[in-house]
Amino acid sequence: MNTLRLNPDDTGMQSAADLLSAGECVAIPTETVYGLAADARQGQAVARIYAAKGRPSFNPLIVHVPDADAAAAIADLAPQARALADAFWPGPLTMVLPLRADAGIASLVTAGLDTIGLRVPAHPAARDLLRRFGGPLAAPSANASGRISPTSADHVLSPDGGLDGRIAAVLDAGPCAVGVESTIMGWPEGTATLLRPGGIAAEDIETVLGAPVARHQGDPSRPSAPGQLSSHYAPNAALRLDVTDPLPHETHIAFGQPGPFTLSASGDLSEAAARLFDMLRRADLAGRPISVAPIPEGGLGAAINDRLRRAAAPRD
Ligand code: TXA
Ligand code: MG
Repeated sequence: MNTLRLNPDDTGMQSAADLLSAGECVAIPTETVYGLAADARQGQAVARIYAAKGRPSFNPLIVHVPDADAAAAIADLAPQARALADAFWPGPLTMVLPLRADAGIASLVTAGLDTIGLRVPAHPAARDLLRRFGGPLAAPSANASGRISPTSADHVLSPDGGLDGRIAAVLDAGPCAVGVESTIMGWPEGTATLLRPGGIAAEDIETVLGAPVARHQGDPSRPSAPGQLSSHYAPNAALRLDVTDPLPHETHIAFGQPGPFTLSASGDLSEAAARLFDMLRRADLAGRPISVAPIPEGGLGAAINDRLRRAAAPRD
């Protein structure tokens, strides 16, 4: 398959919408990372996502919709979910919600669960595409399974862990602004629970809810949000974390200091998040073990550290 690179102009957007209607997979920009989109109502189209990514089949996919009304046609939004939708949609928040029986979503999307992860993306190209396409789009991150999430069309097409030749097209709208995936919230025991730290800080969610949210506990290799495998974000090189004294043979990723591989010279966490995956790739290309400076845990630091711990986890 020859993967097309489409521009986000009228012609390119319409081509992307037409390919999706025809059951093809198209990589699309969102404000977090590039997603590999397919029509969430067509089981065969969704199967192409798993095939292109080589993804373990037990991983349910996030479904992207244009607004909260479209979400409410697919899942039940209890008052707390409504409040979070009002506060953070469109934006980098995914909510795992009870799936409506009449939603018309292919069961492969939810991997057979009776819940569904829904999100309203903020990226203008993603919003334009959802309008033109006129339906829900299932889209996990557009990388081969177990590889680093892509924050540019070049990453999507990269010869190392990319999808060139495996998908119909990529809609190229430049680099992603947020750079880490959406925050995932769910209500597994009836209480608001952070299932994955991401682009919206848990503290900001607690402010809206007026109550603390439970942090998902447990063995990261036995995920309750299925698919949160500990080795999900893996460069080729070995990775050491919280390193203040890098070894001479290591490529060191700095934070709060200048350098050839700094996440943010000024110590800005949102700048660090936006650069994270690109920096891991670039450091990986140097072909040496990687060490990473300590990243403070507050705000977006939680998501960055979560991704780094996964990248550093022992590989299968
Ligand atoms: O920012 C993002 O969220 C990006 C962009 C493309 O929207 N998408 C993304 O999707 O990160 P993915 O597939 O790489 O991660 C989806 C996560 C997985 O950990 C999956 O298990 C969880 O969401 N998830 C999806 N549906 C779920 C459900 N019904 N119950 C529990 N977890 C679910
Ligand atoms: Mg992913």
